[in-house]
Amino acid sequence: VNVPFLDVAAQYLELRAETDATVACVLQRGEYVGGSENAAFERELAAYLNVREVVGVNSGTDALLLTLKALGIGARDEVIVPAYTFFATAEAVCLAGARPSFADCGVDSFNADLHSIERAWTPNVRAVIVVHLFGQPVDLGPIDEFCRARGLHLIEDAAQAIGASYRGRRVGSLARAAAFSFYPTKNLGACGDGGAVCCDDADLAARLRQLRNHGRSEAYRHAEIGINSRLDEIQAAILRVKLPQLDRWNERRRAIAARYGAGLRDTRCELLMHAGRDGDVCVFHQFALLHPEREALRLFLAREGVESAVYYPVPCHQQAAFSSMPDQSSLPHAERYSRHALSLPMHTGLADSAVDFVIELVREFERR
Ligand SMILES: Cc1ncc(COP(=O)(O)O)c(C=O)c1O
Repeated sequence: VNVPFLDVAAQYLELRAETDATVACVLQRGEYVGGSENAAFERELAAYLNVREVVGVNSGTDALLLTLKALGIGARDEVIVPAYTFFATAEAVCLAGARPSFADCGVDSFNADLHSIERAWTPNVRAVIVVHLFGQPVDLGPIDEFCRARGLHLIEDAAQAIGASYRGRRVGSLARAAAFSFYPTKNLGACGDGGAVCCDDADLAARLRQLRNHGRSEAYRHAEIGINSRLDEIQAAILRVKLPQLDRWNERRRAIAARYGAGLRDTRCELLMHAGRDGDVCVFHQFALLHPEREALRLFLAREGVESAVYYPVPCHQQAAFSSMPDQSSLPHAERYSRHALSLPMHTGLADSAVDFVIELVREFERR
C-alpha cells in the first residue's frame, strides 16, 4: 500500500467539469488580471469570513508584506513573529525593512502564546504576527489584550488555517488584518500562487489595493512605491469554484485527525493538536505530532510506502538567513519541536483504511 502525503490534484479532479468551464470562460473573455473574477472572489471570501474587506494578491508572502507596508511598518521597527513557522512569515517582515523578534512556542502547542510573545517584546516592537500553525487557531484573547495595552498592531498569518474558528469567529476576522495563502497545497488551494489580505478597515483596504498595483492612485499616476501583486483571474475563478466546498473538505480533515488521534492515543506520539473547544475549530492543514524517535519512525513509514514530512526541521531563529542578527537567544520549545515533529499524510482524499494502515504502522514501529 502506498499512502501519499498530499494529493494536490484531488480538489481539481473532484470539480473538474466546473473548473474547466470557468477557466475556459476567463480565457475567452480576455480579461486576465484585475477583472470580475477577482472582484467576485473578494466579495465571496469576505462573506465567508464575515469581514468587510478582502484584497486579492499574488501570494501569502505578499499578503503579509503589503499588510506591514500598509500599516506603515518599516525601517527601525521590530515585529514579533513565532520562530516556529514557515520562513515566509519572518521573511515578509524583513522585506518590509523591519526586523523580526522571535517568540517561542507554547509548552504544549505549536503556536506561540502570550508568555512567549511577552518575552519577545522590545521597545521597538510595533506589531505582532500570530500564525495559526497547521490549522490550529492561536489563543488570541490574551495576545489581543497585550497588543491593545501597548498600541501594537495584531496581524494574523492565517495561511494554513482558512475555515478555522476561534471562540466562534473565523480566523482571519480576529485582528487588525489577516493574510491568507492559496498555494496549491493549502486547505483552499489555487492552481498556482495566490493570496489575500482581509480586514474591516476600508482605508487600509484602499491602501492595500494601491500597493498591490504599483502604488497607482489612478491611470498612470503613482502615489507611492508599490509592487506588482495581483490575484490573476484564472486563480480567482478556480478559487470561486472551490470555496463552497471548503467547509466540507475541512470536515473531512477533522474526521481524519480524529481517527489518527484515537488510534495513536496510547502510543509514544505526543499529540499537541486538538480539534478545538469553546467555539474553537481546528482545520488540520497538517496532522503533526511529536515522536522521540522521529527520524527512525519516518524511515520505517517510508519503507512501508507511507510518506510523512517534517515541518519544520529548522526554526526561523536558527536559519542561516538570520545568522547575522544579534541576540538570538535559544527558544527551547521551538527547538524541541523542530527535532521531534512529524506530519502524517493529510488530505481530503485520504481513505479511512489508509489512516488505519498508518496508525497500525506507527504501533508496529513501537512494538519492535
Ligand atoms: C504560515 C505561512 N505563512 C506564509 C506563507 C506564505 O504563503 P505563499 O507561499 O502563498 O507565499 C505560508 C505558505 O506557504 C505559510 O504556511
